[in-house]
This record gives sequence, C-alpha cells and structure tokens, in this order.
Amino acid sequence: MTFIRALTGACAVALASLGLVAPAKAQTYPTRSITTIVPFAAGGPTDVVARIITAHMAQTLGQSIIIENVVGAGGTTATMRAARAANDGYTLITGHMGTHAASVPLYPKLAYHPEKDFEPIALLAGTPILILARRDFPPKDLNEFVTYVKANTEKLNAAHAGVGSVSHVSCELLHSILDIKPVGVPFNGTGPAMNALVAGQVDYMCDQIVNAVPQINAGTIKAYAIATPERNPSLPNVPTTVEAGLPKFQAQAWNAMFAPKGTSPAIVASLNAAAAKALDDETVRKRLLELGSVIPGPAERTPEALATLVKNEIAKWTPVLKPAT
Ligand code: MLT
Repeated sequence: MTFIRALTGACAVALASLGLVAPAKAQTYPTRSITTIVPFAAGGPTDVVARIITAHMAQTLGQSIIIENVVGAGGTTATMRAARAANDGYTLITGHMGTHAASVPLYPKLAYHPEKDFEPIALLAGTPILILARRDFPPKDLNEFVTYVKANTEKLNAAHAGVGSVSHVSCELLHSILDIKPVGVPFNGTGPAMNALVAGQVDYMCDQIVNAVPQINAGTIKAYAIATPERNPSLPNVPTTVEAGLPKFQAQAWNAMFAPKGTSPAIVASLNAAAAKALDDETVRKRLLELGSVIPGPAERTPEALATLVKNEIAKWTPVLKPAT
C-alpha cells in the first residue's frame, strides 16, 4: 500500500514535470460572501441603490453580497470603517457625494481621505435632488416656498441625514442661496427623515429622487422642484428649479462603490465588470429609472472615471462648504 502510494506520488511528480497533470485549480475571487457597507439607515436612497445593484452583482459573482447599514456622523463613521477594513475584496462601501467629497471640507479631522484610502470600483447611479416638504406645508409652489421660508426661518426645521450627507449639503446650498439659517434636524439617513416628513414632524428636506418618488406619487409629501436643468421622466409634473424661478439651485448627487486602498486590480476589475453588467440589465435599469436615477453610461462606469469624479467633486464642494465649518 505504502509502495503503491509512493509509486503514484512519483508518477504524479513525473507527469507534472512533463506538464501532463494540471495543478489543482486555485479558487478565484470571490470564494465567500462579500459585505458592502451602506453608511446610512436601511430603506434610504443609498441603501435602495445598493440593494438593487448588488442583487444583480451577486448573481454574476456567484456569491451573496450582504448589505451592512452602519450609521452616524453623516456617513463618515461607516466610511472610516470601510477605509480600515481588510483590502481583500470582501468588505466594500457604497458611498456617495457626501461621504466621498463633501465630507472633506466639512470635517477638518476626517479620519480617511476619499482619494487616498479607497480603490474606486464603479459609479452606480446619479440621483437628482428635490425640494420636498410635509404635505400640509403652506406654500403652494417654489416662489411661495422661498417667501415663506425667508419669513419664517426661525420657526422651521429642515431634516437631513447628518453633517456632510447629501441632504445636509444640498439644503446648505439652498440656504446659502436664500441667505437663511433654519434649524437642521439630523437623522441616521433620509429613510427615517422621510418617515418624519410624511408624519409631519419636520417641515422640509432636500433629498435624493430615489427616496422621494414613491412618496410624491402616493401624495404623502409635497415636491416643489427638482434641482436639475431638465424634468425627470419619473416625475413629469415636478418643475425644475429653472422653470420654478430658482435657477441657481442645481444639485445632483451620486452613489458609487469603493474598496479599501490596496485591493488588488484583479478584484477591482471583477467587481467593476459585475457592476457594469448590473447597470446593463433590463430589470435593474427599469427599477433604477422608475425611481428617477440617472444610469451612468459605459465611459462613466470605469474606476478611472470614478477617481476623476471624486477629485472633481471634492474641488467643487470645498469652496462652497468651507465657510460653513
Ligand atoms: C441615505 O441613504 O439615507 C442618504 O443618502 C442620506 C443623505 O446623504 O442624505
């Protein structure tokens, strides 16, 4: 028996040296489930975009993708955690314009740098911003809204998802245009902030379209305008800020996937290919478009394009937000 084993082993070595026996195939990434951190509460816009896209990516990659909602400090708590995670491709983050751009000027002691501490994977969605209010908020249109919030600033409260979140930064821009400083009410995400708006516990909010379309269509909140040059097909009756008389207020956020710095180029390429495939899938596209997202085209989906976007967005938001700190 020992002899046969030895003989078999010797034969295998001999055959392998002749190139006739293939070495055991190394298992390639991913061999187990992947986690993507979502830096806000479940049910909000980042969570919704991440869930739609990662469900398809999981099919392509042959492993499940778990969403972990880690809240706090406008998304920066979760983003710091992702920056410090092992760079083995098993912990990712679905961040956005706030966590990976606006946070830089707003948090002087930010414990990560969006450009230095992450490998960009892919831009997932553009998310236009809307000015929204509780259903019984008195102004009937954007002109009345402007007059009303200027006259009642001290009495009003604007919901947001923490300093540096998209909802915070977008309304900071709106407030600077209107030259007002209402009270901000922070939530762990605009999922819970939207619940408060629907319940009439807060007055208004600047939020991403993905979170707003279902509520606007259900008539549970008011939408004054969308802060983009064109109307969005998912909300054909909501005027643009240009049409409604506040053309200076232009704001569109974005969601994107990142891995910790040093994640191998092969893993980044594999994740990027899976994200791109998801963005080409008819069902994924239909769902994203129903919610008003802007789907990035092929040239916008590369890691290089995302690196450029992050750099440009930091440069864009720094002069706007620096004085607010
Ligand atoms: C969320 O997912 O709750 C939002 O992206 C929060 C925000 O940045 O406003």
